[in-house]
Amino acid sequence: MIASDFIIDLSIVRDRIPSPDVYPFNLPFVDQLDRLKIDPKVTLFVGENGTGKSTLLEAIAVAMGFNAEGGSRNFQFSTHESHSELHECLRIAKGFRRPRDGYFLRAESFFNVATQVEQLGVEDGYGGRSLHQQSHGESFMTLLNERCRGLGLYFLDEPEAALSPQRQLAAMKRMHELVKLRSQFIIATHSPILMAYPGALIYQFSSEGVRPVEYRETEHFKVMHEFMQGPEAMLNAMLPRSPGAGFP
Ligand SMILES: Nc1ncnc2c1ncn2[C@@H]1O[C@H](COP(=O)(O)OP(=O)(O)OP(=O)(O)O)[C@@H](O)[C@H]1O
Ligand SMILES: [Mg+2]
Repeated sequence: MIASDFIIDLSIVRDRIPSPDVYPFNLPFVDQLDRLKIDPKVTLFVGENGTGKSTLLEAIAVAMGFNAEGGSRNFQFSTHESHSELHECLRIAKGFRRPRDGYFLRAESFFNVATQVEQLGVEDGYGGRSLHQQSHGESFMTLLNERCRGLGLYFLDEPEAALSPQRQLAAMKRMHELVKLRSQFIIATHSPILMAYPGALIYQFSSEGVRPVEYRETEHFKVMHEFMQGPEAMLNAMLPRSPGAGFP
């Protein structure tokens, strides 16, 4: 299989940083952004809330020509200007091939984008049904199955937000098909299921910055694993309770 490599790596151009003390330039990962390799297939941003995963994902997507609020590349609208200026300071090393397809999915503005899509009539390929007549998870799966066609560059921010564990597995299967159709994914996620994608390059974001990490070394895997092996032990240690009371 030929690698996609629409994006090879990215780095920050320090001369362009207007003020290092304000958002987004004060986020811990910015200091270490000298060269962040991007996997030709699947790169995952994981880590604690507020460490900057969405900020970086959005900056890369915007630098690649996507709308900050999500959608495809030929789709430009804005309901509010909330995006950061980080994209102006990114240098992205691109491969020689251009993506033919692409989508920036943000769980938080997915319906907003769907509304605009319908009002403008600018997109097809949503399975012939309005996304608003489908549940959040159904509409996401429709998007992945019907709108995403391969040879694509896909940015997903917490796609698991809408999905049951079964559907997360189905989404991973579809991702794999799209990878085989020479697509490249960059995904911010808290899902230990999606993180298990074989061979994915996982970056853990934290207050220390960003570093590559193995699947089983992620906090998400370790915490979920310990919890699922025996919820009672963790809950007993965590939750104060009156003497004699037990968990069911
Ligand atoms: N427009 C903004 N102005 C100022 N600070 C912001 C802005 N957007 C986000 N932040 C702050 O930047 C930090 C990183 O936010 P970001 O949304 O990138 O985190 P995240 O890693 O995606 O978190 P989560 O896992 O909760 O989605 C947070 O502390 C957030 O409060
Ligand atoms: Mg986020």
